[in-house]
Amino acid sequence: MEKQVLLQVNNLKKHFDIGKGEILKAVDGVSFHIHKGETFGIVGESGCGKSTAGRTIIGLYEATEGEVIFNGKNVQSLNTKERFAFHRQMQMIFQDPYASLNPRSTVSEIISEPMEVHGLYPNKKDRLKRVYQLLEDVGLNKDHANRYPHEFSGGQRQRIGIARALALEPEFIIADEPISALDVSVQAQVVNLLQRLQKEKGLTYLFIAHDLSMVKQISDRIGVMYLGHLVELTSRSELYDKPMHPYTQALLSAIPIPDPDIEDKRERIILKGELPSPINPPSGCVFRTRCPMAMEVCSLEKPTWQELDGNHFVACHLYDKKKTGGQDFSQVAVSR
Ligand SMILES: Nc1ncnc2c1ncn2[C@@H]1O[C@H](COP(=O)(O)OP(=O)(O)OP(=O)(O)O)[C@@H](O)[C@H]1O
Ligand SMILES: [Mg+2]
Repeated sequence: MEKQVLLQVNNLKKHFDIGKGEILKAVDGVSFHIHKGETFGIVGESGCGKSTAGRTIIGLYEATEGEVIFNGKNVQSLNTKERFAFHRQMQMIFQDPYASLNPRSTVSEIISEPMEVHGLYPNKKDRLKRVYQLLEDVGLNKDHANRYPHEFSGGQRQRIGIARALALEPEFIIADEPISALDVSVQAQVVNLLQRLQKEKGLTYLFIAHDLSMVKQISDRIGVMYLGHLVELTSRSELYDKPMHPYTQALLSAIPIPDPDIEDKRERIILKGELPSPINPPSGCVFRTRCPMAMEVCSLEKPTWQELDGNHFVACHLYDKKKTGGQDFSQVAVSR
């Protein structure tokens, strides 16, 4: 069966005017699509623009350039009524559930609020029943309904955040580092919960994380971001087995391997230098100042976003034979 595209992002840019004539290019031209029912992971280190991309997609920020097409409709051109309906379809969960839950509201009030705004379950009794159901769905129960956020553990608070996001029966959820602040043991529980809910409710996820170990279990395909750009995008297995971009290779080499023998012999790629500023990004390839494989062309030309052997996208001059004098660097890069 042909996979249906739920979200299409075309050349999305979000630039912030930070005063004194300076522009910060938080997201600078990313393109990808997400299929219905899929989990698409975005990874990259702090400040690379992951949250800004998520917030722009959901409409919390107005895009500087580019398109967001959801269910075949350009989100920027929706009228007020359509936009209201769109808000039901797309929800967000956040890294810090404590900061995103009102400390003075009970769990029941927190989960009810979006339903009240959207006129869902107008009868109070029905609404409460729905709150109880949502609490059950996320592994809590109705006894939790009248408590306040501070009475819960981090993992439980994330479950409340998830129940709230589910209240409007969305199709698509942007999870912005939903497990980064949790203990390792709790991280797995929340990932399992998200996977179960995905199956039960047919949800589609954009799952944002800062390292590749966090998206490994949950993602079908993964995009790697660096300084406002996507540098590589492919299926999870392809990305872990055959990373092509030197940045992806460095990120993977930073994940410890449980086997001490392999771990001892393994070469870790340490990136030189500091992360450049998105106010003055490097010319050509934005990664070149830290790239162990950088060539002359990298400072002169922006690498194109190209598709190599079916569904593996990469933006890197190493894979452009014209730029390397006909030499194919793919094996050199992969065997590092
Ligand atoms: N509202 C804003 N105004 C100005 N600059 C911003 C704003 N929001 C984010 N930025 C800047 O945009 C860049 C990308 O930030 P963003 O929060 O999207 O990164 P991130 O990848 O989510 O990082 P983290 O892993 O730390 O959450 C950073 O340089 C950040 O300082
Ligand atoms: Mg972020």
